[in-house]
Amino acid sequence: MTEPFLIRPLESADLGRISTIYKTSIEELASGHYDAEQRAAWKAASENELEFASRLRAGTVLVATGERVAGFASLLGNDTLDMLYVDPLFARRGAATVLCDMLETVAHVRGADLMTAEVSDAAAGFFLKRGFLVGERHFVSRNGARLARTTMRKVLGQKGVAGGIA
Ligand SMILES: CC(C)(COP(=O)(O)OP(=O)(O)OC[C@H]1O[C@@H](n2cnc3c(N)ncnc32)[C@H](O)[C@@H]1OP(=O)(O)O)[C@@H](O)C(=O)NCCC(=O)NCCS
Repeated sequence: MTEPFLIRPLESADLGRISTIYKTSIEELASGHYDAEQRAAWKAASENELEFASRLRAGTVLVATGERVAGFASLLGNDTLDMLYVDPLFARRGAATVLCDMLETVAHVRGADLMTAEVSDAAAGFFLKRGFLVGERHFVSRNGARLARTTMRKVLGQKGVAGGIA
């Protein structure tokens, strides 16, 4: 089911809700791909509120709202999708799709021809559906845990083509 989410820039008042979405989405939506220790290490990035807020402020952050904030996504620089997290209660309702539609447009308007994302195994299906192609697989270290990630890339601005390069 796709809902008519409203997309707007992040506001300071959203930070608490964004932090909750970050943690619950990792805990519930990534549990099929990462064990409890890996999820705890991944979630810990939001525990230092100042550092988490500073990471968000380093990018262009959009939130999708329904009756409340349902998800958020951030673009670093012109062409890197840094964060994409949806409240499990709103999962599979199209929030991530509208967030990415908007950030791909922002990236393209800023002059980017290619968008890159370091994608979790829990999100790979979503990015594949959007026309991202699979690149290098690697591991990142988070608070002592190793988490698999895959670099995925999409060519922007190609109408009607699921564009991408490996
Ligand atoms: C990945 C994520 C952002 C998707 O959010 P969402 O709002 O549920 O996604 P959408 O509803 O826009 O999904 C659109 C399509 O993408 C695909 N898709 C979405 N989630 C998927 C999943 N977990 N597995 C496979 N395909 C998926 C489906 O084809 C879906 O369409 P459908 O529901 O009609 O089948 C969300 O599951 C999430 O927050 N995951 C945990 C955190 C995470 O890994 N974030 C990414 C860090 S790189």
